[in-house]
Amino acid sequence: MENNGSVQRESWGSKIGFIFAAAGSAIGLGNIWRFPYLAGENGGAAFIFVYLLAVLFIGLSVMLAEFAIGRAGGLDAIGSFKKLAPGTPWWITGALGVFSAFVILSFYGVVGGWTIAYTFKSVSTPLTNLTMESFVNFITNPLQPILWQVVFMALTIIIVILGIQGGIEKWSKVLMPVIFIILLLLIIRGVTLPGSSAGLKFLLNPDFSKINGSVILSALGQAFFSLSLGMGTMITYGSYLSKKENLPSSALTVASLDTLIAILAGFAIFPALFAVGMDPAGGAGLVFATLPSVFDKMPLGALFAAIFFILLCFAALTSSISILECVVAYLKDQLGWSRKNAAIVVGTLITLIGVACSLSNGLWSDFTIVFPGKGALNLMDFLGALTDFLLSVGGLLICLFVAYVWKFNKANAEVTNNGQFTGVWVPIWNFIVKIVAPIVIGFVILNGLGIIG
Ligand code: TRP
Repeated sequence: MENNGSVQRESWGSKIGFIFAAAGSAIGLGNIWRFPYLAGENGGAAFIFVYLLAVLFIGLSVMLAEFAIGRAGGLDAIGSFKKLAPGTPWWITGALGVFSAFVILSFYGVVGGWTIAYTFKSVSTPLTNLTMESFVNFITNPLQPILWQVVFMALTIIIVILGIQGGIEKWSKVLMPVIFIILLLLIIRGVTLPGSSAGLKFLLNPDFSKINGSVILSALGQAFFSLSLGMGTMITYGSYLSKKENLPSSALTVASLDTLIAILAGFAIFPALFAVGMDPAGGAGLVFATLPSVFDKMPLGALFAAIFFILLCFAALTSSISILECVVAYLKDQLGWSRKNAAIVVGTLITLIGVACSLSNGLWSDFTIVFPGKGALNLMDFLGALTDFLLSVGGLLICLFVAYVWKFNKANAEVTNNGQFTGVWVPIWNFIVKIVAPIVIGFVILNGLGIIG
């Protein structure tokens, strides 16, 4: 299945396989770990409301733009830009994405490792011992989290080596429905606990006075991260797609599934959290340090906790493979590397950066880097802040490229399959890509750097 020019390039086995894989990329730690804690910190329903607007008015359009660039270019993120705008420097947008993949996956692999560790901890340790203190002890340990991170990264590399149909598509098809079912079980368990209705109110009753600039910005940043946008992931996945597929309906399906899972994660977590009287603004430790004590209040709590962390690990894996695939596709398509060598070399490099990330939580925490607008951060937080910045810049460049370089006569032909699927959404999409998204994303970047506030 290697691509040597003469052999046909890999493609998705079926439409549903592509949808599962793209949704698998989108659905990850971003939905199940980051979304609930951001919602908890930013007033619940009000944050969710702004998040939904961000997905609908910006995220969906950028996703369609990425699918279109990928399918029209038919290559990796860098190659697709070169193909569509030869002789221009726009391939740098793709190069920025490949660089972002290193940044994102290095810390993503660390958190992925935590999810495996907590799967085992849930059954080997009494849940009452899995407190914030034990969480901090674990992530600051110089060895333990690194071992789990290596396991997580090894799994990521193996799945990517197995390739598009054999690896990514097959795994996503199995894992995505499992995730959905487990979340439903957790919701049923949570909402039947006495006292859970306060959690439902927190999720459904928006207090609009809670909306301010910083809530809007974190909602938008989260929409980008959660939908896997701005890095070229969706360009790469779009490049494996046949000319017959309906791009707008695919984008709508993927964005809806991603949003559905984030909302379900909220419903799985907050009613149960309120039922045991805990603080919804528990921060990044919400899932790892707070939920075990929620599970402890349930019959078969340890089992439910283990299932939950396996779910989180699966979701993280279908995302991490999409991040690695982005770099592998580039080395394969542009430099002629084999899939296997590319996955092993890049995966190992990223794992090494990840080791430094993990150590930055403990042993190396004195080493800090200043990020504009955020102050001195340890390596892990620095790479997180850099991610938000890189994804925003990537998303902005993608919109500008489509609107002003590739141009809408060609872009619209691609997204409508030469006019086959058309409608009022076409001019709306053009308006968003040309005007709305660049202005809003530009504001996010300047605000993130502390240039405007
Ligand atoms: N969207 C994934 C999540 O929510 C993470 C992810 C995968 C990602 N690929 C990406 C984020 C590309 C940004 C860009 O966990």
